[in-house]
Amino acid sequence: MEVMQAPLLEALKLSHAYPLPGSWLQKRGVHEVLRDVSLRVQKGRTLGIVGESGSGKSTLCRMLLKLEQPTSGVVRFAGDDMRTFTAQQRKAFHRDVQAVFQDPLSSLNPRMRAASILAEPFDASGIRLAGDAGRERLAELMKLVGLDTALLSRYPRQLSGGQRQRLAIARALATEPQLIVADEPVTALDVSVQAQIMNLLRDLQDARGVSYVFVSHNLSMVRFLCHDIVVLQSGRVVERGAVEQVFEDPQHEYTQLLLRATPVPDPDAVWGHVERPRPLPVVCEEVEVAPGHFVLREGVAHEDASFPAGRRECHHECVVLCAVVDDWPAGYREYA
Ligand SMILES: Nc1ncnc2c1ncn2[C@@H]1O[C@H](COP(=O)(O)OP(=O)(O)O)[C@@H](O)[C@H]1O
Ligand SMILES: [Mg+2]
Repeated sequence: MEVMQAPLLEALKLSHAYPLPGSWLQKRGVHEVLRDVSLRVQKGRTLGIVGESGSGKSTLCRMLLKLEQPTSGVVRFAGDDMRTFTAQQRKAFHRDVQAVFQDPLSSLNPRMRAASILAEPFDASGIRLAGDAGRERLAELMKLVGLDTALLSRYPRQLSGGQRQRLAIARALATEPQLIVADEPVTALDVSVQAQIMNLLRDLQDARGVSYVFVSHNLSMVRFLCHDIVVLQSGRVVERGAVEQVFEDPQHEYTQLLLRATPVPDPDAVWGHVERPRPLPVVCEEVEVAPGHFVLREGVAHEDASFPAGRRECHHECVVLCAVVDDWPAGYREYA
């Protein structure tokens, strides 16, 4: 019998909401960005997170990276609940989990040369990089990501987009992390460079066994790099499972729509001329349609539980609408 491996990172029912402007005075409510998001990242594997612009992918990443607190829910790393990390666990977490963002120009300090940028994570972990051994370590990192060591003396703006992103990946690898959260790491790059960086990420995983959370709106890239996938619509997981399974047999209409729309040159423009997704029903439940393949379906409303008096439940775009018109759009049920 196959023994299920404990996940490296696990999120359980994460929700997040931002207060609407002026809400503290007029009690207008909140902008719900994520609701009940659960996911697992296994050792040495890649979890892809897809969804249209504004579906909550970056907010989710920030919570996985412990840069933002969820309104409710739990994130566990190596079995430990992030909310109760000791100082030592926190330090280990910041060494073991690294991030690569979309725009390396804004995530790399423009006043630091590449060498200092790469040395910084060592300083933060209290590792001294001195003399020949230090130089060797930096050269090793550069080689790992396919950069010439001559570039160590350059500032980020003196590098090409692809070189900058390679440098950001090298910095993320410096502390030999177990997990890298990559939020749209190739979106800002030229198509030819995108392919090189995608290959690099895959080679690094093969060589080092590092896990990734890979955010993209490009499903071809997700299919290339990821083992598992989570599809986010308006902050909810509408489908999740093994990549092959979900791509071969997409069950949720939103996933089917994303698949039809791929590849997407401009994520913000695509919805203008392709189909818009239908809003989610108010009450949903997750159904396992095949082993490990989950789909969000319309659920049955329960009169009593889980909807506290006075709280209106609905998917977040609707909550924003309600705040403006103070009424419910047609087709939405109200819970009081
Ligand atoms: N700091 C913030 N304050 C208020 N709303 C925010 C904030 N950050 C993100 N949002 C909102 O949360 C939603 C999800 O954003 P984001 O996580 O960036 O989505 P994605 O990465 O999928 O494009 C968007 O509607 C965005 O406007
Ligand atoms: Mg984003």
